[in-house]
Amino acid sequence: MRSPASLLVIFGATGDLAQRMLFPSLYGLQEDVLCPQALRILGTGRSDIDTTLFRALVAEAVRRNTPAGECHEGALQALLERIDYHAADVSNDASLQALGQRIHELRATASGDVVYHLSTAPRFYAPICEALGRNGLAGPGTRVMLEKPIGHDLASAIAINDGVTRVFDEDRVFRVDHYLGKEGVQNLLALRFGNALFEPLWNARHIQQVQITVAETVGVEGRGDYYDHSGAMRDMLQNHMLQLLCLTAMEPPARFEPSAVRNEKIKVLRSLRPIGRNEVLTETVAGQYTAGAVDGKVAPGYLEELGRPSRTETFVALRAHVDNWRWSGVPFYLRTGKRMPRRSTEIHLQFRAVPHSIFAGAQVEPNALTIRLQPDERIELKLMSKTPGLDRSGLRLSQVALDLDMHEEFANVPRRPAYERLYLDAIEGNSTLFVRRDETEAAWEWIDAIFDGWRHADVTPRPYPAGTWGPAAAVAMAERHGHSWRE
Ligand code: BG6
Repeated sequence: MRSPASLLVIFGATGDLAQRMLFPSLYGLQEDVLCPQALRILGTGRSDIDTTLFRALVAEAVRRNTPAGECHEGALQALLERIDYHAADVSNDASLQALGQRIHELRATASGDVVYHLSTAPRFYAPICEALGRNGLAGPGTRVMLEKPIGHDLASAIAINDGVTRVFDEDRVFRVDHYLGKEGVQNLLALRFGNALFEPLWNARHIQQVQITVAETVGVEGRGDYYDHSGAMRDMLQNHMLQLLCLTAMEPPARFEPSAVRNEKIKVLRSLRPIGRNEVLTETVAGQYTAGAVDGKVAPGYLEELGRPSRTETFVALRAHVDNWRWSGVPFYLRTGKRMPRRSTEIHLQFRAVPHSIFAGAQVEPNALTIRLQPDERIELKLMSKTPGLDRSGLRLSQVALDLDMHEEFANVPRRPAYERLYLDAIEGNSTLFVRRDETEAAWEWIDAIFDGWRHADVTPRPYPAGTWGPAAAVAMAERHGHSWRE
């Protein structure tokens, strides 16, 4: 039985993610009075600074990354009082040993569980876990959160997972995919399984195609070194997008709890039809942005931002199939890219056309359900309705939308960042919204086959100007199958 954590140790605490997302989210938990009373937070990183200076950094990061007017000094001070800092170099054994000593001291004063959050380069995950194990700091009552990417292919993911699970059993490993902490993503589960309305229609008999889009307007934002080794496929598709696909396609789990949900997700991943050497040229498109304009502002090309030649893809579109009874024959179009015309994350389900139209001469469009996750959260159902008025030729029809704006519907309820949900769950020991080892590895296996195909066919990303929806070849791919991307 798990008890709430009373110590959270963040590795990489001076890094960009910690400052931009992690501490502002911990601030949110403090503000929402959801931090356990006794929780202490130990930040650790390479920077040789003391607790006072670290607290000042955190305060500044929280103020900078909390919406205007929502940062309250009282809650911020209460958060800072929980925080200590200990400089450590995770690549150095003696340094890790000293950190272990510090953790021992803090543990001695607290009776709850311990959460280690590794927000470092993934190559340090196994060594850090091993050092925690050697120092007697990984026993019962401890758990570990790991940031993505878990490796860069199946073999490296297995190596990391092996190293980590030699020390922490799988049910104490919390792999973060921050998309699972997003309100809109959890709302997808509420929509599917909190309503009897959709489930009978949620299958190949009624749905003709599914499109999942994660479009970003940003470029690589100074993360060129990381991104260039990663690319859109590893950075977004292997994790966030496949998770969205799983939640869209999975069978109803019996309960909203870790094994039940994750057992259903892994079945989807294992049902994905491999896209290999024979399919990559027709079923996938890789792109790389060139100079253009986004939001009316000139945007440099990827190579200019990077400052060197590169074949890394900043856009990928593909056509996937979930080969099971529910989805047989339904294409899942996935598309993600940087420097797109607007930020938009959505899941779009296009229903089949009516089997027979009784309205001679009237165009009957198929129904469509769109679940928009970002930047706004809305659920839109496209329906046919009668156009009001009289018409000699009979009934005229128009397509109309039932449009639910979640921000309007819950106007007085604050929206919380994904990491706040994920921290709360990790502190409480609930892993439902974290990714299990088999999911990560099944996703890599599927992605690796595509990379193998790309290598074999010597695929070079096709250029697309910043501010457009990707290379024309992505449009052509959908059109070959009689479909078109939603814009
Ligand atoms: C991260 C990727 O995981 O997700 C980034 O590394 C990407 O490249 C980001 O920009 C997108 O997240 P969000 O929450 O802004 O959609």
